[in-house]
Amino acid sequence: MSRRKRLVIGISGASGAAIALEILRLCKALRLDTFTTVSAAAERTIQLELGDVARREIHDLATQEYAASDVAAPISSGSFQVNAMIVAPCSMRSLAAIAYGTGEGLLARAADVTLKERRQLVLLAREAPLHEGHLEAMLKVTRMGAIVAPPVPPFYLSHSTIEEMTRQIAARALATAGIDPGDSLRRWTGEPA
Ligand SMILES: Cc1cc2nc3c(=O)[nH]c(=O)nc-3n(C[C@H](O)[C@H](O)[C@H](O)COP(=O)(O)O)c2cc1C
Repeated sequence: MSRRKRLVIGISGASGAAIALEILRLCKALRLDTFTTVSAAAERTIQLELGDVARREIHDLATQEYAASDVAAPISSGSFQVNAMIVAPCSMRSLAAIAYGTGEGLLARAADVTLKERRQLVLLAREAPLHEGHLEAMLKVTRMGAIVAPPVPPFYLSHSTIEEMTRQIAARALATAGIDPGDSLRRWTGEPA
């Protein structure tokens, strides 16, 4: 495998498209290779939450973006070498597809491949409140080796803007996927004296 870390990023149609954008910005700054796929529903949420310019930025930041329906894309095969996959944000629909290994669409297929190859899969699952089906799917993917990491705001770090908080959530997602986010991750160092 090349020395540059390689990451698959699945963007699904849960709220929080800005988190995906921040992850991609961080990956670019860290010189990681990124392979992305954006679900049809995510096209809507990106448009609604961020707009055209951000959609283009998401496309341009990726090393390679694959169409949501392109189940023949390299990331649909375990032989394509990557370090980890992050789904950010992860909708309950995509969570369920991953939990039950449906492999329907490229995002779910790439996640399934990540699990079968025993690579790190981090799901920034976003919904509230949660019903039993959501919780069951979270338990199921956890037992299969994924990490469910809901994008909850780290209030204890006292960020002053939503952008700072989003960046922190993005940096934390990279750390959870085994990628050192460097100085972009603010860490708790104990109570100030
Ligand atoms: C503005 C907006 C926000 C949404 N937020 C969520 C959410 O936070 N969590 C969720 O599970 N679905 C959310 N949805 C619904 C999903 O987009 C929908 O279930 C979709 O089928 C998910 O498909 P995907 O997993 O293939 O992206 C939202 C939809 C819209 C339009």
